[in-house]
Amino acid sequence: MQSTNWVPLLPEQASTFAWQVDALYAYLIVISIAFTIPVVAAIFFFALKYREKEKFATPEEMHGSMVLETVWSIIPFVISMTIFLGGAIVYFNQYTPPADSMDIYVVGKQWMWKVQHETGQREINELHVPVGRNVKLTMTTEDVLHDFDIPAFRTKADVVPGRYTYMWFNATKPGKYHLYCAEYCGLNHSGMGGWVYVMEQRDFDNWLSGNVSGQTPVEMGKELFETKLGCASCHAGGPQQRGAKLEGVYNTQVKLVGGETVTADDNYIRNSINNPASQVVEGFQPIMPTFKGQVTEEQLNALVAYIKSLSPNAAAAPAAAKTATPMAPAAATPAAKAPVKPVAKSTK
Ligand code: CUA
Repeated sequence: MQSTNWVPLLPEQASTFAWQVDALYAYLIVISIAFTIPVVAAIFFFALKYREKEKFATPEEMHGSMVLETVWSIIPFVISMTIFLGGAIVYFNQYTPPADSMDIYVVGKQWMWKVQHETGQREINELHVPVGRNVKLTMTTEDVLHDFDIPAFRTKADVVPGRYTYMWFNATKPGKYHLYCAEYCGLNHSGMGGWVYVMEQRDFDNWLSGNVSGQTPVEMGKELFETKLGCASCHAGGPQQRGAKLEGVYNTQVKLVGGETVTADDNYIRNSINNPASQVVEGFQPIMPTFKGQVTEEQLNALVAYIKSLSPNAAAAPAAAKTATPMAPAAATPAAKAPVKPVAKSTK
């Protein structure tokens, strides 16, 4: 897998921001060397030049130099600010998923990675993605803290129990790249890894259609919402519904009892399912029971995907649908692309 790489010590560069991370790293190394060499040389030079020649000599009194002190304060300040700016730009870029990203869900578990695609396909310890496309991973874990790490893409992110974290990348060349868990998570932590397969779009489409897709996350979420968990009995059904309206809520500001305002993002939806009493929407009673322990992480992902699909105007939703159309995998079902209208039943 090793190829033309200007730093042989580093893994292959296979994502759009890999070179940025490497350039920043090289810059840090160069600066460190540029400071280390003169400092060490000066230590030796002064040790020799000013070594003790006579016992109890009285040194000459010295007065500081304003110019010198200003210069050696300003130069390091400017250099450290370039490091800060470079780091901030790369970091901001890496942790701001583009709106047109393809969504993939990842659930960590001692000791495996479970992956589900928008079109329903699942895989374990493997992640297939198309080349040249923005891919966003929404990640969580069933048990302890893990960390999803793809060295060739120069990206990794902690996967935290009880919440969602994100990662995005755009793979630049087809191939097979290592996937690791980068957070010690127990006995078989070192075995918790696998491979990322970057494929040409048509190969990826073939791969998708060659796999049993089952329900898409949106379809699975709809089923849980309407029948299995019965969410619809309170959250759908017109003006008299007992639960807050969910259509169009995604990515909007929600006012809570107590005056606080929060953004209805993935973590908010997740928390509202697991811990409903903690964030009651203004105008509603804290009557919703908790679903903590009754829904698996995969089911939570599906519910979030479904509720997201009820808000076609939310920043991420229409963009994702747009890009999915021209390159839609054969197995894609309409539900994955088009928002699903909730079925209004009950509460009459
Ligand atoms: Cu999971 Cu280390």
